[in-house]
Amino acid sequence: MSETILPTTPEAASAELARLAALLAEYDRAYHEHDDPLVTDAEYDALRRLNAAIEAAFPALVRADSPSRRVGGAASSGFAKIRHAVPMLSLDNAFTPEDFQDFVERAQRFLGSSEPFVFVGEPKIDGLSISLTYENGRLIQAATRGDGSEGEDVTANIRTIESIPAQLRGPAPARIEIRGEVFMAKADFLTLNASQEAAGQKIFANPRNAAAGSLRQLDPAITARRPLRMFAYAMGESSAAIATTHFDYLEQLRSWGFDVNPLSTRLPDTAAAIAFQQRLGLERAGLAYDIDGVVYKIDALDLQTRLGFVGRAPRWAIAWKFPAEQATTVLERIDIQVGRTGALTPVAILTPVGVGGVLVSRATLHNEDEIARKDIRAGDTVVLQRAGDVIPQIVAVLAERRPDDALPFTPPTLCPICQSPAIRPPGEVVRRCTGGLVCPAQAEEHLIHFASRGAFDIEGMGEKTVREFFACGLIATPADIFRLAAREAEIAGREGWGALSARNLIQAIEGRWRISLDRFIYALGIRRIGEANAKLLARHYGSYKNWRAQMEAAVAIGSDARVDLGNILRIGPAIATELAEFFAVSRNVARVDELATLLTITDAEIESPVDSPLSGKVIVFTGGLATLARPEAKALAERLGAKVTESVSKKTDIVVLGTDAGSKAKKAADLGIQTVDEAGFRKLAGLDL
Ligand code: IVH
Repeated sequence: MSETILPTTPEAASAELARLAALLAEYDRAYHEHDDPLVTDAEYDALRRLNAAIEAAFPALVRADSPSRRVGGAASSGFAKIRHAVPMLSLDNAFTPEDFQDFVERAQRFLGSSEPFVFVGEPKIDGLSISLTYENGRLIQAATRGDGSEGEDVTANIRTIESIPAQLRGPAPARIEIRGEVFMAKADFLTLNASQEAAGQKIFANPRNAAAGSLRQLDPAITARRPLRMFAYAMGESSAAIATTHFDYLEQLRSWGFDVNPLSTRLPDTAAAIAFQQRLGLERAGLAYDIDGVVYKIDALDLQTRLGFVGRAPRWAIAWKFPAEQATTVLERIDIQVGRTGALTPVAILTPVGVGGVLVSRATLHNEDEIARKDIRAGDTVVLQRAGDVIPQIVAVLAERRPDDALPFTPPTLCPICQSPAIRPPGEVVRRCTGGLVCPAQAEEHLIHFASRGAFDIEGMGEKTVREFFACGLIATPADIFRLAAREAEIAGREGWGALSARNLIQAIEGRWRISLDRFIYALGIRRIGEANAKLLARHYGSYKNWRAQMEAAVAIGSDARVDLGNILRIGPAIATELAEFFAVSRNVARVDELATLLTITDAEIESPVDSPLSGKVIVFTGGLATLARPEAKALAERLGAKVTESVSKKTDIVVLGTDAGSKAKKAADLGIQTVDEAGFRKLAGLDL
């Protein structure tokens, strides 16, 4: 597994999350719509884990289009599109009794009445919503939610699900649309994954992804073999009224032959709703399927009609989410993983345990300070926590269950792979293998990075191939990749390869003899030089020749070149030191030079799209600003690639709070949106450092 260096500032985190969202969306499209994965599952999972880890560290920066929120991808070309007669909306979230109370008061204010409401509470199943159309009692169409306005026609697949009636029992309106959640039970998910693994097929991250993947199969025969179920819970269009309360409507759904969640309960008032939340919180772990909260709906359908919608969510319903799910298990041992830049990361190897719907057997321990702080020892019973797709964290150690012989963790003084000294420089949290590229683990991870998407982007040279070629000695350094043409026959003769695949690979490599300066710099895998910094460097130095000369000159502390490097906006002295240290090692310089003589490195483009911490962001200003007039602040943000809007919504990325910021500040906090003050905005906009 490659090393994950987590960004430390919100700006860097936000840029990385944007990159991952775009990249994973592309991979999802390739996988789901073209059945043609661009990367191995391991690479894909690593990116998702990275995304989840950054989201865990910066929860306020979770994007509306985050890969962790996406189920199967947008409408795919493999299915016909269906427009929903009534849009399929989402729900606002609550997390506390106060949030719930706010929801009630908002609805009352809207209706101009203080009458209490009767609610129906329903478990919020973590699956995917589906809309079923019946004509004269017969199922004629089934569509996924898609973007809410337009979904995919999955009728053939839905017909394979037993709990969905093909024919409604008893009288029904001439045309009626019924909505519900398709899901997979926890046990079925585990069985499916076990058989997928045995067959060398894709493993699903959680039951929701398994349900989505199973439903979006182009071949209904595959869906038929997957144990999908559905609970019905809502209505779409209907040619005749069915009931006057939601609860009665659920009864009607039952009598037509649908499964309605048996825990759905009519609740006479707010206090009952709050008590119901607690009750389901306790029952949650014992349920056969994953739930992530409770959906509360105002029972009276006439009130629902009057309340209507705001944005994309009804005013008459709310999803009250549970806190992250926890589980306890035993930490069997602590392994050390060596990353591309030599960082040694301790990893907890756990007795596998289900938490939040997935089986967890590993968890990162981040670094030795973290282990010491929590006093985590091999043999300990630990509490794990996981929310949504976020990677599991060890939140606590159960000291009373510690075996007598459990010893504190001793950080390695030697790299477990190459036995070079492993050193933790003063002031740093990370211990590193000093072997550099002599360390096979670092050399291998570096090659994977070199051939990867943002770098040389060599098709057919994903993680798996690099590991295979590295293990058998076909490649040891990046330059070796460009010498593979001479060994085409040898590759073709390898197990799992053939003349065609070898030819394709060699051709893909040939297409990469020309490379832009920023990609070249990024591909070198220098610590802290990600794609964004590589672009900054390329833009600043223009040509490879100039960059190379300046880097060599920058090795000397205090040299003009070093100062100039540290002065590049958003590079700074720390990254400058990193580059200087890389160029101070002759072996590194030799590698760079070897590549440069083989390849054509093209100059940086002068005109490039706005690349700022604000680009692509949706920003709301609220309250008074002291140093900037509002129109100026707005224009500045727009110039830096942001979109400025008036109101705070789930789509908002950043709220700038001036003085006396009112309801928008609260809304931002409710939605967990990143907020900055005026000084913070000035920093993001690059006005102040
Ligand atoms: S009602 C306009 N009821 O949650 C009301 N949704 O966050 C639409 N969900 O897209 C939904 N259980 O996929 C409703 N009992 C339930 C639900 C439920 C799960 C899902 C559904 C929806 C999402 C909204």
